[in-house]
Amino acid sequence: MRLLFLGDIVGRAGRNVVCDALPGLIKRYALDFVVINGENSAGGFGITEAILTDLLDAGADCVTLGNHAFDQKDTLVYIERHDRLIRPINYPKGTPGKGATLLKAKSGAEVLVINAMGRVFLPDLDCPFRALDAELTACALKSGADAILIDFHAEATSEKQALGLFLDGRASAVIGTHTHTPTADARVLPGGTAYMSDAGMCGDYNSVLGMESDEPINRFLTKIPRGRFEPAVGLGTISGLLIDIDDATGLATRVQPLRQGPHLEPAIPEVPAAPGEA
Ligand code: FE2
Repeated sequence: MRLLFLGDIVGRAGRNVVCDALPGLIKRYALDFVVINGENSAGGFGITEAILTDLLDAGADCVTLGNHAFDQKDTLVYIERHDRLIRPINYPKGTPGKGATLLKAKSGAEVLVINAMGRVFLPDLDCPFRALDAELTACALKSGADAILIDFHAEATSEKQALGLFLDGRASAVIGTHTHTPTADARVLPGGTAYMSDAGMCGDYNSVLGMESDEPINRFLTKIPRGRFEPAVGLGTISGLLIDIDDATGLATRVQPLRQGPHLEPAIPEVPAAPGEA
């Protein structure tokens, strides 16, 4: 099974490049399943139902969130209607929506997607390690799902690396999001879990984390807000990760970063033989 994960979509620049490129990527790489972090897709703050629909129409199978999950207040209501939109699993009990969803891939395989949020330099939610341990106990690889992908939305690489190794062998992939900057550590961990500290963002990299740089620079210089953060409006670059999964074990056999667009050094995955092919 071949799976694509794309990092945080930021604003219109990110939405446009993803919606334009995703159908072609699905075809080119014969993707069975696509997960995208969409928590900054609505002007940098949350996601609307219309944007969610656009991403699903473009070919996303599941959209994950993070610390901006409920910036668009409507999300508190419409998230209940969608199986393909999830928020971090370690929000307090009673939070609308869910943190995990079991979906069918094109191949017919059952894919469990889980979203969790770190606690270092982010709001102090329930323990993500314990929340994920409990979910993976309830729905384990092979007995409960053919593949398991975890989007760990966190700031600190230490917390992300610790979680990756804590879950190594129990998930197909643990991919970090939130910093909007791709890391160069994509690999398969010793136990067979694909890992990358941060998938980067889909958006305009001539910016500060996808936002026009004037206001962030002003706030660093003066500590006095002068305006709102506005998403940068140039062309978008896509950043993510292609993951090949062994159908027999549900574990990863290969990971390849994918970066395409005007800003970053490109990373174009080879078109690998599907697992099981010669
Ligand atoms: Fe975030």
